[in-house]
Amino acid sequence: MPKWLENAVFYEIYPQSFYDANGDGIGDIQGIIKKLPYIKELGCNALWINPIYDSPFMDAGYDVRDHKKVAQRYGTLDDVKELLSTAHQMGIKVLFDLVPGHTSDTNEWFLQAKKAKKNEYTDCYIFTKSVWDAPPEYRLMCGVCERDGNYLVNYFSSQPALNYGFYDITHPSWQLPYDSKEAQKTVELIKDIMRYWLDLGVDGFRVDMADSLVKNDDKKIATSKIWANIREMMDKDYPQCALVSEWCNPQRSLNDGGFHMDFYLDHYGNGYSTLFRYLVDEKNKSFFSDEAQGDLTTFLDEYLTNYPLTKDNGYICFMTNNHDMPRATFYMSNEMIKLTHTFMMTMPGVPFVYYGDEIGMRYQTDLVSKEGGFSRTGSRTPMQWDSSKNLGFSTADESKLYLPVDKSADAPTVENNIGKKESIYENLKTLIALRHKYADLRNESDFELVHAQKGDNLFVYKRGDFTVYFNVSSEEKTASISENAEVIFSLGEYDVQKDTVILKGKNALIIKG
Ligand code: NOJ
Repeated sequence: MPKWLENAVFYEIYPQSFYDANGDGIGDIQGIIKKLPYIKELGCNALWINPIYDSPFMDAGYDVRDHKKVAQRYGTLDDVKELLSTAHQMGIKVLFDLVPGHTSDTNEWFLQAKKAKKNEYTDCYIFTKSVWDAPPEYRLMCGVCERDGNYLVNYFSSQPALNYGFYDITHPSWQLPYDSKEAQKTVELIKDIMRYWLDLGVDGFRVDMADSLVKNDDKKIATSKIWANIREMMDKDYPQCALVSEWCNPQRSLNDGGFHMDFYLDHYGNGYSTLFRYLVDEKNKSFFSDEAQGDLTTFLDEYLTNYPLTKDNGYICFMTNNHDMPRATFYMSNEMIKLTHTFMMTMPGVPFVYYGDEIGMRYQTDLVSKEGGFSRTGSRTPMQWDSSKNLGFSTADESKLYLPVDKSADAPTVENNIGKKESIYENLKTLIALRHKYADLRNESDFELVHAQKGDNLFVYKRGDFTVYFNVSSEEKTASISENAEVIFSLGEYDVQKDTVILKGKNALIIKG
């Protein structure tokens, strides 16, 4: 396990929208370099950067055309080297995004695989035997290649699935076993790409759709084997590099696959969703919501099952948001967001902050989809730095911007957050600093539930020497507290009387002792 992970707080950068250093309207690597001091000041010491590889951008770069080439719009390989060395000098680790499940349909491997004549890439993708062979249970692109066969897609039509074989073979004429030499070759191709970037100094990867590799593998047995094999490579040659999976199944990803971290994703109705993003008939039923009508049951059932079974192998990661879902501001007030940040920064695991969440950037509705973003586009708008042109994101003409900036008069910016005691930014910065200061709040001590009850808005847990309280309702709540407790953090008012604490509405408290 890479040691630095234990005290890591990640910052996710959507490179298109972070900072445009060359004034062409789109964010770039030099822009990231310029803003490293800002990220460091917030307290984050690791980055996850969404794909920066050459791509036709049908899915914002998750459609890779050339895995070893930097997309021109972001800069050059020299810029990447400069980013890595500057970040490392500042004590910041850098994870790139690895997309192992598919490529762009313009990738040279796929252009070769589409050809009628057999070649070294023929088996890199999954083709049926002939174009007349199109079982409806598979998502296939039909009749579009010179080769006589239909190919399987992993996500959008422009993203053909790479061939890691099948676990259950239902159509032997075209499905290869996962342990066939053809499927193994795909694993080697991905390892080669990983090695390329790791050798350059990248500190690991966020792995896109990590569970999608082997097909007809419902229990993910064969997919996990591939990752366990990759983990062996990491342990042997890159022991201080880390992998975080987009999977949301810690028992499979951390225990079976050997990932160091697994994201707790927003799957409608799951633990994450019912904590933060749960709209039922347009009413907010999340636990952390201003309506305070949710409960913790789904989350606790999931978490208290997964956490004890996986905590010795890796970390379950909470994120403020990511580039695939509406920002928290769409669901709750800034006040409530500060409570959620208190939760995320005092839970075990490794937390991830999505760019702009630290200043309360809003989810922009009514935007035309950009590069396959669709409903996700509104969470991908330019970072809001200050009150200058384009909110400090770019000096380009407004018409040239990757996406429009927030036009509201009261758009939050870094400038109008910094130094304001009540701001989301200052609150988060304080919490990150506490996390760095106290190992108990990270992973040294277990999560211990103290109070949670269906229909009750009080939530209390212990982390070693610390107790964390939440009152998400507007009414006062009373809880017990140890008599010598020292309050090290609070949101809103509270009153301690001997062994009792009264938490006024919408409050969080961290006490020591
Ligand atoms: C998950 C990524 O987060 C998302 O943005 C992308 O569209 C899909 N995987 C496909 O790669």
